Amino acid sequence: MLILSKTVGVFSKPSRRKTYEFLRIFNFHPGKPFLHKLVLGIETSCDDTAAAVVDETGNVLGEAIHSQTEVHLKTGGIVPSVAQQLHRENIQRIVQEALSASKVCPSELSAVATTVKPGLALSLGVGLSFSLHLVDQLKKPFIPIHHMEAHALTIRLLNKVDFPFLVLLISGGHCLLALVRGVSDFLLLGKSLDIAPGDMLDKVARRLSLIKHPECSTMSGGKAIEHVARQGNKLHFDIKPPMQRAKNCDFSFSGLQHVVDRIITQKEKEEGIQKGEILASAAHIAAAVQHTTACHIAKRTHRAILFCKQRRLLSPSNAVLVVSGGVASNLYIRKALEIVTNATECTLLCPPPRLCTDNGIMIAWNGIERLRAGVGILHNTEGIRYEPKCPLGVDISEEVGEAAIKVPRLKMDI
Ligand code: KG4
Ligand code: ZN
Repeated sequence: MLILSKTVGVFSKPSRRKTYEFLRIFNFHPGKPFLHKLVLGIETSCDDTAAAVVDETGNVLGEAIHSQTEVHLKTGGIVPSVAQQLHRENIQRIVQEALSASKVCPSELSAVATTVKPGLALSLGVGLSFSLHLVDQLKKPFIPIHHMEAHALTIRLLNKVDFPFLVLLISGGHCLLALVRGVSDFLLLGKSLDIAPGDMLDKVARRLSLIKHPECSTMSGGKAIEHVARQGNKLHFDIKPPMQRAKNCDFSFSGLQHVVDRIITQKEKEEGIQKGEILASAAHIAAAVQHTTACHIAKRTHRAILFCKQRRLLSPSNAVLVVSGGVASNLYIRKALEIVTNATECTLLCPPPRLCTDNGIMIAWNGIERLRAGVGILHNTEGIRYEPKCPLGVDISEEVGEAAIKVPRLKMDI
């Protein structure tokens, strides 16, 4: 149900009076002045309204988030107009809460950073419109943020990770492998040719009606699969990983989804139950799909590491793989990646779950990174638009495929 509009967006501004009232609340003096640069980050690219204030040293001074997950779980997917309405209802409160928690007066901000690409057009529009009005009132610079770049750089808020490093972003909307060479210098090594792994896991969870499982009723599809899979045997069904012959770093998950769909239909017949009821073999199916997903992701990532080492794009002695996005919180998939990084002598780093999923901190931090590097800081916002579709960096995935790197088989004992 996720519909991405191809149009580059235009937006309607909130009223001046409303913004004035909003700013008036912050007409206080915080006591002691802040020594470091401070950025307010605003995120509304999908289904979370989030904001945070972060300083130059990576201190999170305040944050707030409103998740729409529960609403969208009921409709079985994100309805963009509903997401837009919920962003509109919550953005002012969320920004206000983040600023209040930070005890930062808006006049003390160095800049406002906001996600403008890629994402749902209707959702991006709310954050951009709100932010442009805010920077106009505050007379502050504006920093437009690429959502995936922000995910990729979040790790640097927590760990000392130097450029270049490899990043794997796996979520409900994205699946990509990239080499991060600088704050705005990315090489795209591979991406999903169809749907993202989180989207596939959400669809399988829905097909298995895991929401009816008492322990999973409030969990996202991927989390429910991980939970139920603990009781299952991954070898009960033999599901082959996709794209085994393609020696590149691209991914595919829709074929896997259809294979699992057929297994479920077959099992429903065998067990004599209706679509919508929970199968006795649900745990085995969940375990098998999780295992195949983990093996597929691990294999493509393994090839990306070998490619980067072969081309000397990564340090041979100090290579780092960063894994982020909602699916990165899956411990089974993390273990599969750990097997790969151990075999290739890389360091595996994952931000904590709350920073793996969408949040305002990563947007504010990307603003700080850009301020420090002096790139992409706008003092005039005329003509700025959101972009629902926007690739990450320079796409070298064809070159990766042409290298046709053979990946040694690893024992996935998880
Ligand atoms: O990054 P995220 O919060 O939002 C975007 O998609 O941008 O990721 C959400 C996705 C959902 O598809 C959800 O099912 C998946 O991440 N997810 C998981 C787990 N927790 C969340 N997938 C597998 N295992 C998990 N533990
Ligand atoms: Zn995201």
